[in-house]
Amino acid sequence: MLSTINFTQTTAYQKLLSDKKRLESSSISALFHTDSERQKKYSLFFQNILIDYSKNILDAETFEHLIELAKECQLESAIQAQLNGEAINQTEGRAVLHTALRKPKGQSQLLNGVDINADIHQVRAHMKEFTEQVVSGTWKGFTNKSITDVVNIGIGGSDLGPVMVTEALKPYKTHLNVHFVSNVDGTHIAETLKKVNPETTLFLIASKTFTTQETMANAFTARDWFLKTAKDEAAVSKHFVALSTNKTQVEKFGIDSANMFAFWDWVGGRYSLWSAIGLSICLSIGYDNFESLLSGAHEMDLHLANTPLEANAPVILALLGIWYVNFWNAPTQAILPYDQYMHRFAAYFQQGDMESNGKTVDRTGKRVNYATGPVIWGEPGTNGQHAFYQLIHQGTQMIPADFIAPAKTHNPIGNHHTLLMSNFFAQTEALMNGKSLEIVKSELVKAGLNESEIEKLAPFKVFEGNKPTNSILAKEINPATLGALIAMYEHKIFVQGVIWNIFSYDQWGVELGKQLANSILPELENEDKVQSHDSSTNGLINQFKDWR
Ligand code: F6P
Repeated sequence: MLSTINFTQTTAYQKLLSDKKRLESSSISALFHTDSERQKKYSLFFQNILIDYSKNILDAETFEHLIELAKECQLESAIQAQLNGEAINQTEGRAVLHTALRKPKGQSQLLNGVDINADIHQVRAHMKEFTEQVVSGTWKGFTNKSITDVVNIGIGGSDLGPVMVTEALKPYKTHLNVHFVSNVDGTHIAETLKKVNPETTLFLIASKTFTTQETMANAFTARDWFLKTAKDEAAVSKHFVALSTNKTQVEKFGIDSANMFAFWDWVGGRYSLWSAIGLSICLSIGYDNFESLLSGAHEMDLHLANTPLEANAPVILALLGIWYVNFWNAPTQAILPYDQYMHRFAAYFQQGDMESNGKTVDRTGKRVNYATGPVIWGEPGTNGQHAFYQLIHQGTQMIPADFIAPAKTHNPIGNHHTLLMSNFFAQTEALMNGKSLEIVKSELVKAGLNESEIEKLAPFKVFEGNKPTNSILAKEINPATLGALIAMYEHKIFVQGVIWNIFSYDQWGVELGKQLANSILPELENEDKVQSHDSSTNGLINQFKDWR
């Protein structure tokens, strides 16, 4: 089981408070000036990925104290507890074993004394066989035509992971067009159905619980639309499959359990792309590439399990995150991939991180007296540079940022990749060094401005610098590297949760909105005036009824 240590009561925490005081009067660029070996000291390779964390407000003592903090919070035993299948998701009484999904065939994974590896690989064999049939065209629809389009219907973890991965790995695409419908807004399904033909479309109903309102509404709409053409319930089995843990509900919907790809309650929704929820990934990039994605992630799991904390990539990233959230009051963190294919990576980890670590109650059930999960956000570079980087450079908040880029592009067109990468390198350097008043003034002199013009303008052109960044440079983004990167961020979230003394694998916070929506729903189904809420909610509902 996980410990219940309050990290603010550790000796490492006190040491880190004084580290902060010391480092406040220094700067990242000053730390580089005093140590020519700094990049070597504060970077590591994980296979073909260079993780450079040297542009952080970090010196040797602070690094040592961060590691001490992890040790005092018993991180090492927490890692083993998770990987060994202990029920560390205590509020739901479940183990957390998405890592088991990535283990090769034959490698034992015990859960309550039973080896689950064979069950996992049985589902994988089913996914492989099915993918090969659909991709090769031998799986036929009700008019004996091969499948051309796949529509994944799911939301949250049953959508974001597959969307992100299929986008990130587009260069590996099969001939199938894979679409994703998540929003209960009818526009999403309506616009998707306009693009596909019922004779050649396969629907994947992706829902761990198979009760999620949005997914079920979209699934029934898709089924009605399909039956309008097929006119035969028996045809459903050729066009609808389920990815779920809930056999009863799947059968109730009318999907044959032979067309159900199962997974288990020890796979959290936001950690489920590695399970049957990944079927859309298999169909999109082929089964072998899905396997490579899993094996890349498995390599990262081994790294987490077997590498000393001082050289452990997810641990270091997690500790740096804690350093900024809890000691430097940084409320947000940006993830900035310089890779257009990775344009949903930050959105994916918005759920991954914020649904996991957005908690105010610690593992003893008491309110925490420190900050927990930061707001995660980001967009690909260079687009973000022309949108929100202004605030990172000159705003009042500290926004630690991860810059991610591939050295090799899948699209070597002219000098595009060199242009992109020049921005990738320039931004972290600019964020670190800033631009002093002195330099600004000398530039303005060169530009021919007079003294009073310079005095007026100069303050606005100063960049304080000292903005921390990590640079994650991969040789290329292929299925294995992407798998490793995703697993690295997953483990970072877990490590932070351990230190913050919170439960990272439940998500009770999303329940209240669901409950209230369900109670409001019947009130919207008639024309009566509503009076049961506060005056704002009543006013809004009644205006909606007038206008609809
Ligand atoms: O938003 C809450 C949540 O439970 C997520 O954790 C989950 O990924 C999503 O809903 C979808 O749930 P399901 O796969 O059961 O439809």
